[in-house]
Amino acid sequence: MHTKWVFGSLALASVAAAHSSFDLRVAHRALQKRGPKNAADAAKIYGINQQCQDYGDDTLYEMTQAKQFPTEGQIATIVSNDTEAKQIWNEIKSSGIIPSNVQVKQGTDGNMGIADSATSGYDKSDPDCWWSVTQCTKPKSNKIPEDFYQCDEPDTWGLTFDDGPNCSHNEFYDFLQQNKLRATLFYIGTNVIDNPYQAQRGITDGHDICVHTWSHHYMTTLSNVQVFAELYYTAKAIKAVMGITPRCWRPPFGDVDDRVRAIAAGLGLRTILWKEDTDDWSIDTGTPKSKIESNYQKIDGKANTESPIVLTHELTNNTMSMFVEQYPALKKAYKNVVPLTACLNVTNPYPEDIVYPNFEDFVGGNIDPKNKPDISTIKVDASASYKPVALSKQTDKGSYMSPGSGSASGASASSSGAGSSGTAASGSNQSDASSQNTSGASRTTAFTLHFVAVLIPMLAAGAFLS
Ligand SMILES: *[C@@H]1O[C@H](CO)[C@@H](O)[C@H](O)[C@H]1NC(C)=O
Ligand SMILES: *[C@@H]1O[C@H](CO)[C@@H](O)[C@H](O)[C@H]1NC(C)=O
Ligand SMILES: *[C@@H]1O[C@H](CO)[C@@H](O)[C@H](O)[C@H]1NC(C)=O
Ligand SMILES: *[C@@H]1O[C@H](CO)[C@@H](O)[C@H](O)[C@H]1NC(C)=O
Ligand SMILES: *[C@@H]1O[C@H](CO)[C@@H](O)[C@H](O)[C@H]1NC(C)=O
Ligand SMILES: *[C@@H]1O[C@H](CO)[C@@H](O)[C@H](O)[C@H]1NC(C)=O
Ligand SMILES: [Zn+2]
Repeated sequence: MHTKWVFGSLALASVAAAHSSFDLRVAHRALQKRGPKNAADAAKIYGINQQCQDYGDDTLYEMTQAKQFPTEGQIATIVSNDTEAKQIWNEIKSSGIIPSNVQVKQGTDGNMGIADSATSGYDKSDPDCWWSVTQCTKPKSNKIPEDFYQCDEPDTWGLTFDDGPNCSHNEFYDFLQQNKLRATLFYIGTNVIDNPYQAQRGITDGHDICVHTWSHHYMTTLSNVQVFAELYYTAKAIKAVMGITPRCWRPPFGDVDDRVRAIAAGLGLRTILWKEDTDDWSIDTGTPKSKIESNYQKIDGKANTESPIVLTHELTNNTMSMFVEQYPALKKAYKNVVPLTACLNVTNPYPEDIVYPNFEDFVGGNIDPKNKPDISTIKVDASASYKPVALSKQTDKGSYMSPGSGSASGASASSSGAGSSGTAASGSNQSDASSQNTSGASRTTAFTLHFVAVLIPMLAAGAFLS
C-alpha cells in the first residue's frame, strides 16, 4: 500500500526563556488575579476568546516550576531527577513485556510523520501488528491484550472525542449535558496542563477520561523511553489535575504497534482505536463541510450492521459544532449513543472509587457515575501520587481487563479479558490520497510560556488525525 506521509511542524516561540523566575512569578500572579479561580468559575465563561484567555492555577504553577512535567509541546522524556518515573520505567523494562523484535519506525519532520519507506517496506505479514499499515488490533505478542474498536451491544455508537481539553469547550460540554450525553474524552497532556479547569469539567460532568499522549506525535517513531514518558506524564497530569488514574489510551493517528502497546500495557493503559472515522478535524484544513457531513451520514447508515467506536474531535469550535449539527441525525439512526464505559461495561475505568453505569444502567437513563468529583470542590492536588499498575496485574472487576457484571463475554469477549473485538477493524481506509494539513494552536496558562504548537500532520491513504 503506497502511503505518502507529509508532515507537520512545531513552532515554538517562547518568551519565557528571557524571563527570570521572579518575573515568571509576577506574571503568574497577574494571570491568577485576572482569570477564573477554579473549574466552577471557568465553566461560566462563554465565547472563544473569553474562554481561551490565559489564567494561572497556583498549584499547577508550582508543580511546573518544580519541573515535575516535561516541556510542553515537545516529545516527552523522563525529566531529570524524577526517580519515581525512572523506577517505574525500569520495572516495565525488566518485566519483559516489551518485544525486542519490533523496530522503531522511521519518522519524518520531527516525528510528525512516518517515512514513506517505512510503510512501503514493511513486512506484509505484519509481525508488529502495526495499525497504521494494516489496521491490526490483535497483537502478535500474547502478553498484550487486544485493542478495543467497537461496542458489544447492537445499534450502538461509541462516543469519543480526541485532542481536548480545548479551552473553548463550554458551549459544547453544555450541549452534551443538555442532551444527556456522556463521552469518552482522550485528553492531551499538554492541554491538561494548559487548561486545567476545563479538564476538571470533563470529569465532573460525568465523562470518562483516557490518555492521548503528551505531545501528539507518531508513537511508533519514538524511542521506548519517549513512548513511556509521553504516556506517563499525561497520566500523571490527569491524576494531579483530575484526581483519577487513567487506564486507557488512544494513539494519535492510530499509530500503534506491539512495542508501543506493550509500554502502554506496562503503564496499565488499554489501547483503544476506532471502527469509524468522521475525519471531522479536516474541516479546519479546508475539507468542505459537505464531505464531513457525508462521512457522518455514512456512519449513520451502518447503525443496523455495526456498533462502531467513532472517532470525533474536541479539537476546535469547528469539530465541536459539526457534532452538534450532526447529533439529531445520528441519534435517530442509532438506538444508543454511549461512552466507552457503557459500551464495554467498564464500570471501574479508574482504580479510584468512582463507579460508572454499565450499559444497561446507562441506556436506562442512569448516566452519571457514582462518587464523581464535584465541580465546586475539585482542585489540582500536587500531592496526588500517580501509581500505575500493569494491565496484567489489574484484577479488579469492572476494569478494562475485566469488564463488568453480566458482561456478555461468552461469545466474543475472550475469557482472559483480552477484548471483545472479534474481527479486524475495517472501514478505516482513506480514499482521498491527497495531502492535507491541520493545525491547532495551544495557549498557555500554568507555564508562563507563550508557544504556538502548529500540528500539521499529514494525511494520505490511511493517515488521519486522532
Ligand atoms: C537535580 O538534583 C540536584 C541535586 O538535588 C540539583 O542540584 C539539580 O539542580 C537538580 N536538577 C534539576 C534539573 O532539577
Ligand atoms: C481550541 O478551539 C479554539 C476555537 O476553535 C481554537 O482557536 C484553538 O486553536 C483550539 N485549541 C487547541 C489547543 O487546539
Ligand atoms: C462555536 O463558537 C461560537 C462563537 O463563540 C459559539 O456561539 C458556539 O456555541 C460555539 N459552538 C460550539 C459547539 O462550541
Ligand atoms: C453489560 O452488563 C449488563 C448488566 O449486567 C448485561 O445485561 C449485558 O449483557 C452486558 N453487556 C455486555 C456487552 O457485556
Ligand atoms: C483496507 O485496505 C486493505 C489493504 O489494502 C484491504 O485489504 C482492505 O480490504 C481495505 N478495507 C476496506 C474497508 O476498504
Ligand atoms: C502543508 O503545510 C506545509 C508546511 O507548512 C506546506 O508546505 C504545504 O503546502 C501544505 N500542504 C497543503 C496541502 O496545504
Ligand atoms: Zn488526536
